[in-house]
Amino acid sequence: MESSSPRPHLAARPSQPLTGTCTVPGDKSISHRALMFGALAVGQSRITGLLEGEDVLRTAAAMRALGAEITRANADKGADWIVAGRGIGGLTAPADVLDMGNSGTAARLLAGILATHDFYSVMTGDASLRKRPMARVIEPLRATGAQFFAREGNRLPLSIIGARDALPLSYRLPVASAQVKSAILLAGLNAPGITEVEEPEPTRDHSENMLKHFGADITVTAAGRGRVIRLTGQPELRAADVVVPGDPSSAAFPIAAALLVPGSSVIVRGVGLNLLRTGLFTTLREMGAVLEIRNQRIAGGEPVGDIIAEYADLRAVEVPASRAPSMIDEYPVLAVLCAAARGTSRLRGLHELRVKESDRLAATAALLRVNGVHVEIEGDDLIIHGAGAIPGGGLVETHMDHRLAMSALVLGQVSAAPVQIDDARFIDTSFPGFLRLMRGLGAAMVPV
Ligand code: S3P
Repeated sequence: MESSSPRPHLAARPSQPLTGTCTVPGDKSISHRALMFGALAVGQSRITGLLEGEDVLRTAAAMRALGAEITRANADKGADWIVAGRGIGGLTAPADVLDMGNSGTAARLLAGILATHDFYSVMTGDASLRKRPMARVIEPLRATGAQFFAREGNRLPLSIIGARDALPLSYRLPVASAQVKSAILLAGLNAPGITEVEEPEPTRDHSENMLKHFGADITVTAAGRGRVIRLTGQPELRAADVVVPGDPSSAAFPIAAALLVPGSSVIVRGVGLNLLRTGLFTTLREMGAVLEIRNQRIAGGEPVGDIIAEYADLRAVEVPASRAPSMIDEYPVLAVLCAAARGTSRLRGLHELRVKESDRLAATAALLRVNGVHVEIEGDDLIIHGAGAIPGGGLVETHMDHRLAMSALVLGQVSAAPVQIDDARFIDTSFPGFLRLMRGLGAAMVPV
């Protein structure tokens, strides 16, 4: 995204009841992984429902630059994507710098792939991504034999010389991060022997599911509250078709808006319901929301269903830190819901929010404060004093962060004065068509 292009401001103001049926774009985590595993498999994989957002398009461009053939099957909306893979170890040196844009997932997962490919590459990203910590992947990946040279503070740009005779890793995650887990597993694909990752807290398991789907030899066993994953290196990954479910992290926005605006009733079709992603829905139920799930089914190896959300008189909630990995991207929109709920909410253990696309802990608090909501940060906890009536009228700084932008626009649906955001461009990183979809349900969101 060009930082020199004008920043489109948007405002959201209270709307009529939101009604209708919608489908949100494909899951971002699964989309990145489908492109990467497809590129490492032998043969042609077809991906249906790929998220065509900026973040995922960066992964597609990077995998092409590394030698995979990736094409959009036809020009229609909802096109399939075809990936002709190069096989494990078959990627080739890129001719230019790999630009991962705004995407931490793309950068961290790719670092794993590049660590065990014997060539030189350089990775960079936009101003937001260049602030984000990469030590969490660089440090464990060095033990493969790869060399990493990063900017001060282990930030991008990052140069990588992949290991010639890579060693398999055995690593216990110090932070609950699916990105780090996935980077280790991706590195392990091109290292002979067993790669082992232990996660003290379970995190999203899309990489494990997809590795199985592509024919890898991988086992997952319970260990205390967490899991141990063992992957046999240098398998032949076989091309496979992937059906990408709707992203629960994107579905959160129309669902939240429906819960907030009196008289609303919205159906979101085909949402991914992997239990390691649905902490928000558990929390909303604790707040008094009735979320009905219909049409539960398995699609592409992941549970999927249609979610019906209706206006609810929400009460405050206390969310334990242990739930954070299953709803890590949903805290900004949950905080908006807590602002409208009766009572004081406490969201615990949010240290990982500080290293997202922005410092989401500080920025979520600021988003609410500028709109007249009383908020405190105590250590890693966010405390929100539910106002019932939200004054609004604030201009929210979105810090190149798509989820802050969308959360602020949801807040505007129920605040007395319109809520403005300073930059709407980054919404496209995860949710192209957000405005069209929300306006289609009746939301009032207008350029200013
Ligand atoms: C993701 C994992 C999460 C999440 C991100 C996507 C993934 O990050 O915030 O949006 O696809 O693995 P961490 O695993 O670093 O918490």
